[in-house]
Amino acid sequence: MTVLPLVIAPDPRLKTKSDIITMIDEDLYALALDMFDTMYHEKGIGLAAVQVGVMKRMLVADVSWRDEDGSAGEQYVLINPEILDDSKDAHSYKEGCLSFPDQFADVTRPSTVRVRYLDLMGVEKEETFTGLMATCIQHEIDHLNGIVFVDHVSPVKRDIIIRKLKKMKKMGYFDPHDHSTCGHDHSHDHDHGHDHDHVHGENCNH
Ligand code: NI
Repeated sequence: MTVLPLVIAPDPRLKTKSDIITMIDEDLYALALDMFDTMYHEKGIGLAAVQVGVMKRMLVADVSWRDEDGSAGEQYVLINPEILDDSKDAHSYKEGCLSFPDQFADVTRPSTVRVRYLDLMGVEKEETFTGLMATCIQHEIDHLNGIVFVDHVSPVKRDIIIRKLKKMKKMGYFDPHDHSTCGHDHSHDHDHGHDHDHVHGENCNH
């Protein structure tokens, strides 16, 4: 397994549109696996390639992995995803983001989305997502377009979150550390002091 270093806000890459993927090769396959490793390790339910510094239109998601034993749930890899349609009715989730450690805010989004994407075999798929998966996929597709969840909240709340992260960055809170020492059991505490409480459907990290 490879846990990749995360891009933490504020960072210009998180404001940048990712590039269309024109070739699905072994390197991309390996990247998807590393993104899953990184996502499970950090207790997230979704991750976009830009969050590990790769400006390509790919995201991974698994909203049903089990915290207790770390076993995978239904794993999705979406390449060049496009939202074809969304529902008029909306729902609100308390969202988090692995690029915004320990920061959460209520975000309202359409409760159903229809998405076209390529899977890792290059097969074109169309799928309707609802519930937490709809929220997660929209959050991740936003990332591919240089949009982050705090762009959906009030400027005041956004400023507070960004200011906190800037301060934490300055204090070295997100400096690289050795992931091999904290294992892959989803129950570690990082030695720099934040733990990742995780409840699916609430306080979810993407
Ligand atoms: Ni995110």
